[in-house]
Amino acid sequence: MCGIVGYTGSDPAGPVLLAGLRRLEYRGYDSAGVAILDGSRMAVRKKAGRVKALEESLGELPAIGSCGISHTRWATHGPANDRNAHPHVGGTGEGTVAVVHNGVIENHAALRQDLEAAGVVFRSQTDTEVIAHLIAVELGDGDDLYEAVQRVLPKLEGTYGLAVVSPRCPGQIVGARLGSPLVVGLGDNEHLLASDPAAIAPHTARVAYLQDDEVVRLTPTDFEIRHRERGSITPRIDRIDWSPVASELGNHAHYMQKEIHEQPETVRDACRGRLRRGEGTAAFGGLNMTPRQLRRVRRVVLVACGTSWHAALVGEYLIERLANLPVEVEYAGEFRYRNAPLDDRTLVFVLSQSGETADTLGALRESKRRGHPTLAICNVVGSTIAREADGGIYLHAGPEVGVASTKAFSAQVAVLTLLALHLGRLRQLSFTDGLAVVEALEKVPEALTRVLATELKIIEAAERLSQARSVMYLGRDLHFPVALEGALKLKEISYIHAEGYPTAEMKHGPLALIDPETPSVFVAPRGSLHSKTLSNIEEVRARMGPVIAVGTDGDEELAALADFFLPIPDVLEVVQPLLAVVPLQLLAYHVARIKGCDIDKPRNLAKSVTVE
Ligand code: M6R
Repeated sequence: MCGIVGYTGSDPAGPVLLAGLRRLEYRGYDSAGVAILDGSRMAVRKKAGRVKALEESLGELPAIGSCGISHTRWATHGPANDRNAHPHVGGTGEGTVAVVHNGVIENHAALRQDLEAAGVVFRSQTDTEVIAHLIAVELGDGDDLYEAVQRVLPKLEGTYGLAVVSPRCPGQIVGARLGSPLVVGLGDNEHLLASDPAAIAPHTARVAYLQDDEVVRLTPTDFEIRHRERGSITPRIDRIDWSPVASELGNHAHYMQKEIHEQPETVRDACRGRLRRGEGTAAFGGLNMTPRQLRRVRRVVLVACGTSWHAALVGEYLIERLANLPVEVEYAGEFRYRNAPLDDRTLVFVLSQSGETADTLGALRESKRRGHPTLAICNVVGSTIAREADGGIYLHAGPEVGVASTKAFSAQVAVLTLLALHLGRLRQLSFTDGLAVVEALEKVPEALTRVLATELKIIEAAERLSQARSVMYLGRDLHFPVALEGALKLKEISYIHAEGYPTAEMKHGPLALIDPETPSVFVAPRGSLHSKTLSNIEEVRARMGPVIAVGTDGDEELAALADFFLPIPDVLEVVQPLLAVVPLQLLAYHVARIKGCDIDKPRNLAKSVTVE
């Protein structure tokens, strides 16, 4: 989704800004732009398409100067074209301010009407442009940009991460945050501003995260943060934990492929230091709840979006099975506005890879507002969700760059297995059964390596699937969410329509879709309901539907029923989802590769969805 990078220092700003924007490309965007100050002159360049197109336009018409702001836009108001790209300019002549903005201004139409009535001429269809004009009006003939921005903020309804420059204020960037992240990077005689620490990590590890309602002014040698109501504040300086090596492609063709292949390590890292063999349980450092408090819990609510929601659904089956606790899984975008009854023995978890998803953050805040202890299962350290939760569990999965989430799903499922075990051992789960789960988890990384070694077989199935226009994904019990996740992966990167269903639901409607052109992918490792699944596969075959089956290695009966059989090692049922999802990820990856799709940057999608 949209990205912001600002720089003020002694180096030429253009290359710093372009390099920062490139590091944000993985988030998904459709246009890019910069505004660079050269003393009291301001140059604005913006282009629809990739950062490369912007770079080429800067090659033809350079913008010189050592202070500037830049942006990658993911269209919300108005299509992706040069005009709607940020920065947006307000004021007379070439403009007295330039603004880049992440988020959505909900009252933009009313503000625009007022500005137009006062004679302001708009150049774009965006909601952002009103901010530029409002600041230009407040700045007037003066030169106090910091004050002008602060006077405008109360007029804006919605969410924003803002960066603003003005030729009246050489060397100065003003930023503001409400509901959309911003971080200040502290360098030697240079300061940076970004929506994601990844953009500025090569410059400095010292950062200050802005909180909601804070406004910052940066110059090369100084920075000041004010709270909109409480005035000047002393910022907390953090260090970012970002290894550039972890975000390099190595010899993989795409980040998605790299991240799929990292999963043995991902699961090992998620479990590292958390397994307690001697007690047949798992332990966590950051839950901030005592065993007594956890034993009082009578119900768990898991809230998330997308792939994190699918992981949460696996968590529901696991917690119910191991801890015998009722669990509900909620879409964050629904939960935050519903009047979901929660009592004082309900424990709420939000799950988010990025820790910045607007809907999930909204759900976290709503739950906290209602006085519930709200914990987070999150990957990005220092993200807004991680900071605002009452406690939680980090995934330790490292940076996930591919828009299609893969290793974060595995880390979330591993952590939820640990959580189910922990809650179970505080209740009725015996030491022996707990130890069996611990031992099964310990074996998963090696088993994952064996699944990854079957990639050639998966490519054969992908060749067949790449011809399809529509695909069914089916699974029972713990594998129903895995089927949903397989379908999501296929649709988001290959643009082939795919539906996930509980296997038993097939005959209640979707069976009507089955014909020789519509393959079904069954997630069917051996388990308690295996024979029922075999009957369901027969029903599809009887209607000439092609079958791809993920099953337990050596399951001859299943292999005989399937056109393509994708084996996974024989493991304890509760850890099967960690293995079964991998062939589905690889299947989607290779279908998209065969079709020539842009795998790491699928159309219309963003890595981190920071608007509602
Ligand atoms: O960062 P989050 O886990 O909160 O993101 C939630 C979804 O936006 C995300 O999982 C999305 O569905 C992915 N594109 C799935 O691959």
